[in-house]
Amino acid sequence: MTPRESVQIVDVAPRDGFQAVSTWIPTETKIDIVRLLLNTRLKRVETGAFVSPKAIPQMADTAEVHASIDLSADQRLPTLIPNLKGAVNAFAANITDVVYVLSVSESHNKSNVRRPVAASLDELMKVIEIGRDRPDFRLRANIATAFDCPYEGRIEIDAVSRALEPIVDTGIPVEFGICDTTGRAFPDQVADLFEKCVERFSRTGIDWCFHGHDTYGLGIANALYAYQAGVRVFDAAAAGLGGCPFAPGASGNTATEDLVFTFHNMGIQTGIDLAKLTETAGVIAALPGVATGGHIRQLPKKRIL
Ligand code: COA
Ligand code: ZN
Repeated sequence: MTPRESVQIVDVAPRDGFQAVSTWIPTETKIDIVRLLLNTRLKRVETGAFVSPKAIPQMADTAEVHASIDLSADQRLPTLIPNLKGAVNAFAANITDVVYVLSVSESHNKSNVRRPVAASLDELMKVIEIGRDRPDFRLRANIATAFDCPYEGRIEIDAVSRALEPIVDTGIPVEFGICDTTGRAFPDQVADLFEKCVERFSRTGIDWCFHGHDTYGLGIANALYAYQAGVRVFDAAAAGLGGCPFAPGASGNTATEDLVFTFHNMGIQTGIDLAKLTETAGVIAALPGVATGGHIRQLPKKRIL
């Protein structure tokens, strides 16, 4: 098999996954799971969120979880923030590797973070202002509803482009997480968006990630089309957990183990230990109250390794 360019997978189960679980997951369990994920040689595990505990109670112990994890030099634990207050709280907990979320569509933004898109963008500018002088500041901008909105339907590439432009114009190094929040993107739409946006916003310091959900069974196909369009960073969740509580009908993220299985068998390395990952996915799938997805976790080991 011809070797191809490798990818980095970010496991988002301890954020996108856990936020959708209404049964409280004890802090110690969250810590154990993040450690298990890091032990599979994942380089990045998105862990927790500095959000309102009234909006998402499950994320209330994010600072505690972070404080208990030792990272090796090449591992990261980014954290979601929805507004300036989230950034201030994260920085106060010494967390400066942040994922700021805003939607392309007005109605999803209002339902998710309870403000117009323009207000979210203003707050992001303030986050950049307070973060940009810190040497350890790392910014991911998660662009939600980039393909489809649960309230407004299909999203045009021009609308995504308009959302990216002011962030690009700040000159800050940023990774754009282009999110198929509802899982209703189609492979050609994914490739088209990345091709156009990567070409249009080509300054240095811009990186791209595809964040897919598997609601319609298109998660792997979408990721492969994103790969063909040049994307090399992918969000996925072990055991196929995930789902925005403010996107009705959306199910879990593409399962990390399915994505790793696919990439490895296509000669695309991830650096992840698939045997350990499927075991960890099994541990996550056994948590009370989780809705799981994915395929290979349930197959006999000898058929997947
Ligand atoms: N972290 C913790 N608390 C926060 C906060 C944050 N980032 N932002 C606001 N708050 C608190 C305020 O202090 C206030 O507390 P009080 O009622 O004790 O005074 C309360 O939340 C309401 O503040 P307000 O600014 O009016 O926020 P809101 O009610 O409009 O909610 C969000 C805005 C963004 C904080 C809230 O909608 C949220 O956390 N959404 C979660 C989004 C999310 O994670 N979605 C899934 C990922 S895509
Ligand atoms: Zn998501």
